[in-house]
Amino acid sequence: MRLFQTVVRGTALPRQRVADRVRHLRTPVPSPRHRNTLPPLQAAPIYRRPTTSLALKVIATTIVLVASVGAISFAAPVIHAEVPPSESHSPIFRFTDVQKHDRDASEKWVTKGSKVYDITEWIPSHPGGEVILRAAGGAIDRYWDIFTIHKKQDVYDILEGYYIGDVDPRDLVEGKVPSDMIDDPFENDPKRDKRLVMHSERPYNAETPAEELGTFLTPTGTFYVRHHMWVPKLDAATHKLVIELPDGEEKEYSMEELIDKFEAVKITATLQCSGNRRSHMTSEARSTDGIQWQSGAISNSEWTGVRLRDVLEDAGFPVNDTPDDIKHAQFMGAEAYGASIPVDKAVDKRGDVILAYAMNDRPLPADHGYPLRLVVPGNVAARSVKWVNRVTLSDEESPSQWQQRDYKCFGSNVSGDPDWTSAPAIQEMPVQSAITSLRVMSRDSERDRSLLEGYGLDEDSIIVEGYSFSGGGRRIIRVDVSSDDGHTWHQAHLLPDESHGTKAWAWKRWRWVLPRHQAGKSFIVKAVDEAYNTQPAEYEPTWNFRGNLTSAWHRVAHHKRFAKRLAYFQCTYGVF
Ligand code: MTE
Repeated sequence: MRLFQTVVRGTALPRQRVADRVRHLRTPVPSPRHRNTLPPLQAAPIYRRPTTSLALKVIATTIVLVASVGAISFAAPVIHAEVPPSESHSPIFRFTDVQKHDRDASEKWVTKGSKVYDITEWIPSHPGGEVILRAAGGAIDRYWDIFTIHKKQDVYDILEGYYIGDVDPRDLVEGKVPSDMIDDPFENDPKRDKRLVMHSERPYNAETPAEELGTFLTPTGTFYVRHHMWVPKLDAATHKLVIELPDGEEKEYSMEELIDKFEAVKITATLQCSGNRRSHMTSEARSTDGIQWQSGAISNSEWTGVRLRDVLEDAGFPVNDTPDDIKHAQFMGAEAYGASIPVDKAVDKRGDVILAYAMNDRPLPADHGYPLRLVVPGNVAARSVKWVNRVTLSDEESPSQWQQRDYKCFGSNVSGDPDWTSAPAIQEMPVQSAITSLRVMSRDSERDRSLLEGYGLDEDSIIVEGYSFSGGGRRIIRVDVSSDDGHTWHQAHLLPDESHGTKAWAWKRWRWVLPRHQAGKSFIVKAVDEAYNTQPAEYEPTWNFRGNLTSAWHRVAHHKRFAKRLAYFQCTYGVF
C-alpha cells in the first residue's frame, strides 16, 4: 500500500506545502506514516515514471485494491486509480474548504474526481492562460471534458504533482463531487431556435437547416453556431477591448468609444466552419474526428462594425509600415478561445477585417459574439473570434489549440497524433459548393406553371439550388451541374445578390432547372472561382483525419433507391 501511494501521488508533493495546508484544516492531520511516503521536495513538479518492476508492482497492487474496495474508475489510467480517502491517510478537505480557494483566493484549489489539487503555482505556466481560474474553487472535470487536449498522460501527471489531499467522503456521491455543488459553466447559454440542427448541447453546436440555407442572408436565429465552450456573460456597457502593442503597451477601448470614434462599415460575409460537410468525407471516404457537420456549418450575414485597421492605427500601430518582425494579430475571446491571423490581413485596406457589433442590422446575439466579435471575411470562421476582448500584435501565432492544432490538414496517409507544427493553420479556404434543395415544379400547380414559363419550360421539371463560395474573397465565376454522374455538365444560373465589401466575401447562390424526364439518378455540383480553382471529384484524395476543408463534388440522389447511400440531402419537397 505504501509503495502504491508513493507512485500514485506522483513525485511532486512538497512536504512543506502539505504541512502549511493542514494547519488551517478542520479535518485530520496527515499521519506520520503518510509523511514518510512523501517524495523529496522539488522546485517544479516533474513526474518520474516508475521502473518496469515498480510499474508491475503498481499494477498488481492496483488489482488487489480494485478487488478489495471496488472503488476505481475503469476508464482511468491505472496509475491514477483513486485511493479511498479513508485508506490513503492524506489530508481530507470538506468541499466547502475547496470552494474558499476560488479565483480570488491567494491559493487556488481544484478537485478532480475525489482528489484536491492546489494549482496556484501552475497557473502562470498553464498554456491556456487564465481560463484555468474559472475552475478554481470547484471541480476541474467538466472543463477537461471540454478541453479534451488535457486527456493525456502527461497532463494527468502534471496535475498529480499538485495533489494535496482528498475530498471528504461526506461530500461525494459515487466517488465524485455531485454536479449541483459545482458551478455550471453553461448557465449563461441563451435559448436557441429549435430549427437549428443540433450536434451537441454543451458546448452548443448546431447547423443551419437545409430549408434556411436558401436565402442570401441567413436569418440570424438559424445562423449556424459553433462553440468550443460556454457563452460568457458580457455587457456592452462594461465590455472592453485591449490592444496590446509590440512593445507591451496596452490601449483600452470601451464599446462606446469604438462606436463613437471610428467609421462604421458594413460587410456581407459568409462564415464557414472548417468542418463543414465533414460527414460527407466520413461517409464517402473514411471516418474523421470531429462534429459530423452536413452542409449547414456555413451561413451568410451582414456584419456592421469598425475596421480593425483603424483601431490598431489609433492605438499606435503603424498599419502602413508594419514592423518586419510582427507577423500576426492574435485575438482572445472572453471565455478563453483564441486564434490569430496574419498581420497583413489585419491591416489590409481591402481585407475588410472588422470588429463587429451588429449582425443583420441588430446587435450581435449572445451566440454570435455579443457585444463584439471579429469578422475575418474570406478566412475560415475559426479566426472570427467571438466575444473578443484582446488583440495582441506579435511575432508568433496564437498559442491556442485552435491555432496550433485543431484547424490544420494533413496528407491522407497521416493519422493519430502527427507533428502539428509541420502543417500551417488554416486561413483562407478552398472553393466549395453544395446542393441545398431539389424540388419538382409541377404543371398542375399554378405557381409552378408561371415559374416554369419563366424558364421557357412547359413540362414538369426539377429545380436544383445551392450555394457556392471561395476563400480569400475570390469570386465564384461558374457553377457546373450534372445529372448523369458527371458525364455531361451544364452551367447553373448564378443569382445576382447584392453584397457589401471590397471583395467577394459572400457566397454565391445558384439555380438549375431541367425537365424531369431528363434527370438521372443523382445531381452533382462543383464550382470554379476566379483563380480557376475547382473542387476535387472524390473525397479520398483530400481525406484528412480531422475531416477539415471537405470540398469534394457534392452528389445528391434524386432516386429513392440511392438516397441513403449518397451524400446528405434534406429534401424539403419530397422528390425522393
Ligand atoms: N470564438 C470564440 N470566442 N469561441 C468559439 O468557440 N468558435 C470559432 C469562431 N469563433 C469560437 C469563436 C469557430 S470554430 C467558428 S466556425 C465560428 O466562430 C462560428 O461562428 P458562429 O457561431 O457565429 O457561427
